[in-house]
Amino acid sequence: SPCGPIIHGLEDVLIKVTSISDIDGRKGILWYRGYRIDDLAKYSNFEETAYLVLYGKLPTRSELSEFSEKLASNRDLPEEIYSIIRVLAENKVHPMLVLESAVSALAGFDPKAGDLSKEALYDQAIRLTAVLPTIIAAHYRFSRGLGVIKPKKDLSHAANFLYMMFGSTPDEVSTRAIDLYLVLHIDHEVPASTFATHVAISTWTDLYSAIVAGIAALKGPLHGGANEAAMKQYLEIGSPSNARPYVEKLLAEGKRLMGVGHRVYKTYDPRARIYKDLVRELSEKKGNMTYYQIAEEVEKVVLEKLAPKNLYPNIDFWSGIAMYLLGIPYEYYTPIFAMSRVVGWSAHAIEYLNEHRLFRPRACYIGPHDVQYVPIDQRK
Ligand code: CMC
Repeated sequence: SPCGPIIHGLEDVLIKVTSISDIDGRKGILWYRGYRIDDLAKYSNFEETAYLVLYGKLPTRSELSEFSEKLASNRDLPEEIYSIIRVLAENKVHPMLVLESAVSALAGFDPKAGDLSKEALYDQAIRLTAVLPTIIAAHYRFSRGLGVIKPKKDLSHAANFLYMMFGSTPDEVSTRAIDLYLVLHIDHEVPASTFATHVAISTWTDLYSAIVAGIAALKGPLHGGANEAAMKQYLEIGSPSNARPYVEKLLAEGKRLMGVGHRVYKTYDPRARIYKDLVRELSEKKGNMTYYQIAEEVEKVVLEKLAPKNLYPNIDFWSGIAMYLLGIPYEYYTPIFAMSRVVGWSAHAIEYLNEHRLFRPRACYIGPHDVQYVPIDQRK
């Protein structure tokens, strides 16, 4: 360009220092606050990992119970917000758009919405984390003409979400499927949505608006939507024996296999490795191994044909199957991603405010200058 190099998509540009999460894309390692995702997946749960990501340390027993209690007691929404969700859901507005609208509207019910003190920001981060499942479940119920189910305080974050969706206390493996999905998605350094949150908070806007920016960017199919696409692929394949010919044909036509490849991971996505085991267990418990077996066959072809090009299964390769087996409709897959990532967005917004440098890049103008203004009647 006439103005010097342009870094398209800001690829590999460092925007800040962080101590929230780190990725080793070559070795396939993800850390939150220095802890390996493998350990957190094995020993922790959503509430504890959310605390870790927000506050930078694992909680003591009393800190964790206080934090969990605060989350649980913030789950309900003002009646006006339920009304907004109902009107939009009944008019078939997509749940990601409704999430944006409901979070925006909630700011109006918080007298401290624009307060950027640490204390107010942490309160808001907890409130937002607490209500996202309620908004999503309310959308699900209203859009199907079902009565809304109010949150239950004595259930975990994951169990309460499934309870508000389907009306009964979920079994252990279903709860674990949601809980582990949430743990694995809490943060991932600076993808587009987290960057959008940074841009918004750098103007000293309120945290609600910064989270809306994150949700808006996550909504796009290049970011949040691949697990749905992967699941649709397995449904199309239909049976394990059809997997190899399907994938070989698709690759021969130069098409992309959904749930495969990653901008940062050039090996097996550690989240995918962990979630695969859960999907196997969930499939066994639900008595439906078909999609797990199809995915395993697809994986064999991927490891044979695409791994040499550093293309491996990513988390979306497996997670859509779990959502499907839980009976969750496609349009809620990305909202559930947001339900988890709201923690990372909030942690990054709070961290970034310590630097508070306004994001204001430049663009290289290549149009004309000093063009003569022509009155409207003389224009051709
Ligand atoms: N299937 C087949 N070939 C692929 C795939 C795929 N899924 N992904 C990349 N390639 C090929 C691509 O055609 C190109 O080949 P060539 O060099 O011969 O032209 C090469 O690999 C490099 O591709 P790229 O588009 O330059 O790589 P990227 O880093 O921009 O793409 C990606 C990353 C995730 C957008 C891409 O791998 C993709 O489209 N995957 C499918 C969608 C998907 O699963 N997305 C979920 C990402 S993980 C969720 C998250 O962390 O938020």
